[in-house]
Amino acid sequence: MQTEPIKPKYDQLLRDFVAQLRAIHIDQLERKWITLSMLVVGLFVGIITIDAFFHGVNPPSKVETVDSASLHLNKEFAEDNLGVQVDAKGNVIIRMVAGRYTFFPKHISVPSETPLTFRWVSMDVLHGVHIPMTNMSTMIVPGYVAEITTTFPKPGDYPVLCNEYCGLGHNHMWSNISVIAKEDWKAPVKAPAKGGSNNE
Ligand code: CUA
Repeated sequence: MQTEPIKPKYDQLLRDFVAQLRAIHIDQLERKWITLSMLVVGLFVGIITIDAFFHGVNPPSKVETVDSASLHLNKEFAEDNLGVQVDAKGNVIIRMVAGRYTFFPKHISVPSETPLTFRWVSMDVLHGVHIPMTNMSTMIVPGYVAEITTTFPKPGDYPVLCNEYCGLGHNHMWSNISVIAKEDWKAPVKAPAKGGSNNE
């Protein structure tokens, strides 16, 4: 019973709205600027979409917490467990700790043309990590794990830079990644030791 009168009323509202829109006088110059600003908005939305779908540039979507104050006691981020590891399925996983003022381990070697999953944590304050020419650019917020997957297309040495101001030594906070040709790279043989007998 109720639905009958609603539809014509809705149509009438829509017609009025369209008529009102048509009645608005828009100056020629104003129209140009509206078009221009819409084009700029469209351009940015397009760039974000292309980056997200084709370049793998995404905001960190999953929230994973960790206790920054006890990283050394935490199984995953204990000193022996840091650096490059290959898991049972053959995925290359790299665990890194950022702390004033370096990234640990200071130097790692990874294969080229291989998806690498980096897991970053901070042991003290907010840091950032940026590897030029890759999609690696994220904040490392204390208390959270920042996970990013990236691929290095070419062998070479890449700098790892901190890009969030973290104190007086911020400018000197960096480390290195050596990217080795896929066929020459060998997975590190160190077994993930749980127990911490070899303190370096
Ligand atoms: Cu760490 Cu800036």
